[in-house]
Amino acid sequence: RDGLRTSLLGQSIVYHETIDSTNTMAQKLALNGAPEGTLVIADEQTAGRGRRGRNWFSPPHSGVWMSLILRPQLPVAHAAQITLVTAVAMARALTRLTGVEAGIKWPNDILFDKRKCCGILTEMHAEFDQVHHLVLGIGINVNVPQEQFPEELQSIATSLQGVKGVPIPRAEVVRAVMEELEPLYRRYVDGGGFASIREDWKRSNITLGRQIVAQTARGPITGEALDIDEFGVLLVRREDGETEKIYSADILFA
Ligand code: BTN
Repeated sequence: RDGLRTSLLGQSIVYHETIDSTNTMAQKLALNGAPEGTLVIADEQTAGRGRRGRNWFSPPHSGVWMSLILRPQLPVAHAAQITLVTAVAMARALTRLTGVEAGIKWPNDILFDKRKCCGILTEMHAEFDQVHHLVLGIGINVNVPQEQFPEELQSIATSLQGVKGVPIPRAEVVRAVMEELEPLYRRYVDGGGFASIREDWKRSNITLGRQIVAQTARGPITGEALDIDEFGVLLVRREDGETEKIYSADILFA
């Protein structure tokens, strides 16, 4: 909050020590007219949510669990692009904070090496086919000693402390994220669209060029992640040579 060099994001901050989910709280505030840029932060979440109904491990004092209210004028079909824009900001912020390169796994994970450090959960409220508001939920494992992760996360999760070797003040993490996100978000909404972010995304990504399995609602699609198009859609070349467009999926590296 102090010394936040933004003019929009995080200009109003709502803090809770313990909360079920900052995304749920941000939804309520957004429906009650909270301005764009309002940031909900909690020290601990008792029911932190991940994508696809999964839980998000959110113990006290350990991470940045926060949700940002955004009000872009956007067709519903483009809303998922905000997650990609945010991922670019996250990768930059986490690289800067740790001095170690962070990579984007399409669409919403930030990894160090093969381990996930940050996830993004974008939830939308729509009116007809226009976005009314978005809640951008960001979870970053900051000061979690590796042994504190639950058994099932041991091999797939890491924290900034784990990467850097020393604890990082969480306020610094919040600040870095807001300051990286604001210019990218503005460029995106002020007419640039995802096309204006695409090259930046590619620079930070660790998805393209790899053999993947995309778990989609239509079933798994296996092949090489070829490219991301100007709308943020992932293009995958299947083994039979056909190229598939992937709009939403969980990606596993083969
Ligand atoms: C994922 O990778 O599945 C997304 C994880 C998103 C977690 C964050 S923590 C803050 C916000 N509140 C929630 O309940 N979830 C998001």
